[in-house]
Amino acid sequence: MVVKPLVFAPDAMLSRRTRRVRQIDAGVRKLVEDMIETMHDANGVGLAANQIGVPLRIAVIQIPEDEEATVLINPEVVRREGEREVEEGCLSIPGYQGKLKRSFKVRVKAQGLDGKPFRIKAEDDLRAQALEHEIDHLEGRLYVERLVSKEQLWKIGEREEDEQEPDGPEAAPSVN
Ligand code: NI
Repeated sequence: MVVKPLVFAPDAMLSRRTRRVRQIDAGVRKLVEDMIETMHDANGVGLAANQIGVPLRIAVIQIPEDEEATVLINPEVVRREGEREVEEGCLSIPGYQGKLKRSFKVRVKAQGLDGKPFRIKAEDDLRAQALEHEIDHLEGRLYVERLVSKEQLWKIGEREEDEQEPDGPEAAPSVN
């Protein structure tokens, strides 16, 4: 497993739609291992393949309560319900966070590394947010395109309310 260099905005790699995976071969399995290693190294809760420069429709997600990463090959959101405001960051836009709207409930279908289709449901939590964030990446979209308003993007540590938090801005939830 290898930690790969991250791609940062405004690299065009992040604004292009990724290609579907047709065959889950050794190359894809190696890529997924490297994605998981890179996500762990960056303390992220998710990573899309184009964030390490590979334009394939693959994402990995691991929120703090998960013992291992969920591998999503060719994921698609099949249902969204409701709306909520969340704060979010991205490994490809380091040092910033923003406020945006995400769905309250998300249902996603994908394939696992074994090629078998599966579904995940999430509701009003970090997993729901990460699923939408990573699938957005695979569509070539970044969270900053979904901000509630232009003013709702800030440098981490530069908001008054962040300075008052005992654990500091690093403790703020961050999606990737
Ligand atoms: Ni991201």
